[in-house]
Amino acid sequence: MSQELNEIFLKDYQAPRYLIESTDMHFELHEQDTLVRTRMQVTANVDGGAGAAFELFGHEDVELCRIAINDQVLSEKDYQRQGEKLIVKSVPASFLCETLTRIQPQDNTALEGLYKSDGMFCTQCEAEGFRRITFYPDRPDVMSVFRTTVEADKALYPVLLSNGNPVEQGESDDGRHWITWEDPFPKPAYLFALVAGDLEYIEDSYPTMSDRDVKLLIYGEAKDLDKLEYAMASLKNAMRWDEEVYGREYDLDIYMIVAVDFFNMGAMENKGLNIFNTSCVLAHPKTTTDAGFQRVEGVVAHEYFHNWSGNRVTCRDWFQLSLKEGFTVFRDAEFSADMNSRTVKRVEDVALLRTAQFAEDAGPMAHPIRPASFIEISNFYTLTIYEKGAEVVRMIHTLLGEEQFRAGSDLYFERHDGQAVTTDDFVAAMEDASGRDLSQFRLWYSQAGTPELKFSDEYDPQAHRYVLHVQQSCPASPGQATKEPMHIPLAMGLLDQQGNDLTLVNGETTLVLDVTEAEQSFTFENIQSRPVPSLLRGFSAPVKSHYPYQRDELVFLMANDSDGFSRWDAAQKLAVDIMQSLIHDHQNGVALTLDPRLVDAFRAILEDSTLDKAMVAKVLTLPSEAYLSELATEIDVDAIHHVRNFVRKELAQGLESILLSVYEACELAGEYSPDAASIARRSLRNLCLSYLMATEEARYLALAEEQYVNADNMTDQSAALSMVAHSRFKQAAHKLLERFYKQWQDEALVVNQWFAIQATNPEPGTLADVEALMQHPAFDMKNPNKLRALLGGFCGQNAINFHMADGSGYRFLGDRILELNKQNPQVASRMLTPLTRWKKYGEARQQQMKAQLQRILDSDGLSKDVYEVVSKSLA
Ligand code: PHE
Ligand code: ZN
Repeated sequence: MSQELNEIFLKDYQAPRYLIESTDMHFELHEQDTLVRTRMQVTANVDGGAGAAFELFGHEDVELCRIAINDQVLSEKDYQRQGEKLIVKSVPASFLCETLTRIQPQDNTALEGLYKSDGMFCTQCEAEGFRRITFYPDRPDVMSVFRTTVEADKALYPVLLSNGNPVEQGESDDGRHWITWEDPFPKPAYLFALVAGDLEYIEDSYPTMSDRDVKLLIYGEAKDLDKLEYAMASLKNAMRWDEEVYGREYDLDIYMIVAVDFFNMGAMENKGLNIFNTSCVLAHPKTTTDAGFQRVEGVVAHEYFHNWSGNRVTCRDWFQLSLKEGFTVFRDAEFSADMNSRTVKRVEDVALLRTAQFAEDAGPMAHPIRPASFIEISNFYTLTIYEKGAEVVRMIHTLLGEEQFRAGSDLYFERHDGQAVTTDDFVAAMEDASGRDLSQFRLWYSQAGTPELKFSDEYDPQAHRYVLHVQQSCPASPGQATKEPMHIPLAMGLLDQQGNDLTLVNGETTLVLDVTEAEQSFTFENIQSRPVPSLLRGFSAPVKSHYPYQRDELVFLMANDSDGFSRWDAAQKLAVDIMQSLIHDHQNGVALTLDPRLVDAFRAILEDSTLDKAMVAKVLTLPSEAYLSELATEIDVDAIHHVRNFVRKELAQGLESILLSVYEACELAGEYSPDAASIARRSLRNLCLSYLMATEEARYLALAEEQYVNADNMTDQSAALSMVAHSRFKQAAHKLLERFYKQWQDEALVVNQWFAIQATNPEPGTLADVEALMQHPAFDMKNPNKLRALLGGFCGQNAINFHMADGSGYRFLGDRILELNKQNPQVASRMLTPLTRWKKYGEARQQQMKAQLQRILDSDGLSKDVYEVVSKSLA
């Protein structure tokens, strides 16, 4: 396939030959043809070599009506087209390049470039969407100031927005109007944005640390105006936090957010004009769950933080994507930790990393946080780039400590403000500010795969000496057969027999050991009795760690570890160990019995009313099927599902009365509030109810129905609904689902939850339900949120049904991918993920999964996105 030739390599990077000083654009928006006039002031790059050709990029769907250099219209012999490239062979050292292009945003279903979402025009240019608007040196190391005029019908599109500040506006008598925006900060084209629509907004202002007033505007459709306040409050909190924690101040006089319904991702940090998926900005107690509120807070902050980590200092090329994403995810995680419960946030992030990112790191698309090559960059907006990237920044933070990390960040922003740089530049700033040598640490940027730490230890009672041995290794990944030892910060402590932390050195009870070799030993003197080690506290590195804990030791750590994260982790390890033996028993036809230590440990936690309720809920949540799958050498879908249900039911029966009393004790009175304490109560209460429902007793069905009816917020309502909908009480499930739809049919995001709840039903027959729901009038194959809810829910979060032995789940996904491939390549490629993991299943499933991948690969007209994932999965 010729597409293979399009692989792009980091090692081939070359500085741009020409730079753009300023870009002046004029958009004439129409219902059919939109016209875009672009004027670029271009100069040869001193490092780029004079006399070179001038290279622009334009997508095949963009019609080039005219191109002129210094007023000379070019004819086809003056330039060359090579795929997306347009190469003007000879240009002077400094010139004006003008283009006129014609595009059809109303037909753009890929949702990249300029497109229409529910009647409004909007853009998405990261990573390479700008070339779907006009011909441009569309690469992040070409930065320009932009002046943008948007012209459209005034009645249909009263609001016209772009980056920066509005500077001029006018109207013509044919009912059209225009506004010119100017963005004084040079930016790469991927940060360009434009919006035109019939929008309403809420307004606020923020006084910055140097006392400038910034106008804050959040735009949405009129019906959503009552769901914007939480985003506004979150934005102001984020602005304050970035000033206090990083010393970063906002730079323009106006900051805008626009909510759109059709969006491939969560949100986009366009300079001064963020565009958000409605799912990441709208929040209202009646329609949004606690998790939804926290997502809004986190994503609003994430996009805001990009103003410095991403926009002021941007990426030199797309291999550096984690430079902005890893750092910004680290920043938003710390922000959320400060706003809510730090330990809960850490537990959630680690759970995601260990299930989904570790699975990615072990699969056919595994890549380092700085990939060495790609075919389609859209395929690299991954958990690895984002979440593992954030863990790598967190490790630097751990190694340097708070103060030196801040010094490194200050140096990075000061040194590189206005530049497009690399992850190496980031690490160098951290090294220069702290004096620490991070040369071995840099391997985290180039080596893929999840490192593993294997521990053993010995204690000498005569010498009072404890020795901890550690071996590190990292499995092979595509293109990387062998790995070098990495620099792994290992936070650890030792507990005495009473469960107290031992003081190790300098009065410290937690040490950060530098694990740097393949095999290493650490000796601790003056240890009076055999200690229990607490390893990888706070999850100090994104690795798998193995220590031969006895179950009693895990129970001991659950009760005594001074690190909250490690208490949770001990509970997870205990539950995993127990469930793994049960899976083995199940596979061998041995009758299952639950180790009573799990029931006792869970009871102790439920009975301790001094514990943080959010953490109780986390500790009592069994490791997910997805996590057990990630840990398995060969995934036995049925055994995992069966065993997890068995354990839940046993726990529920063993703890029934305490579960019920905690359920009752956690009831909240008064108005809904998404604060950490209230969220904690609701999460524990709903966890108790879900265990009670696992008993399959009719009285708990009644309790769930009662909660549904009485709920004054979406968290409690949807929790009750999904418990009933996923139960064996078919009639009740049906009734409640219908009632829910009737109540919420006009709220798109709630209807999406309704789709997701049905798609994730583990009961048999769900595939037929999903197929029927695809015909439902509220479903729309063109809307990514709906696809994620229904298709994503079924294929990605319903293993027992997706992996049905007859292969019908796989065939269903294969069919959908082929439909989506042309319509929306980015979403199609993301939806493929579950099929790419075929190597981890038994022979029969492997064959069926591969057959679908092969069928996709053999079909005509594959997008680069889908081609890359399918071909790498079969390689
Ligand atoms: N850069 C966005 C973010 O992480 C994500 C995004 C990527 C959105 C590509 C759209 C397209 O904040
Ligand atoms: Zn981001």
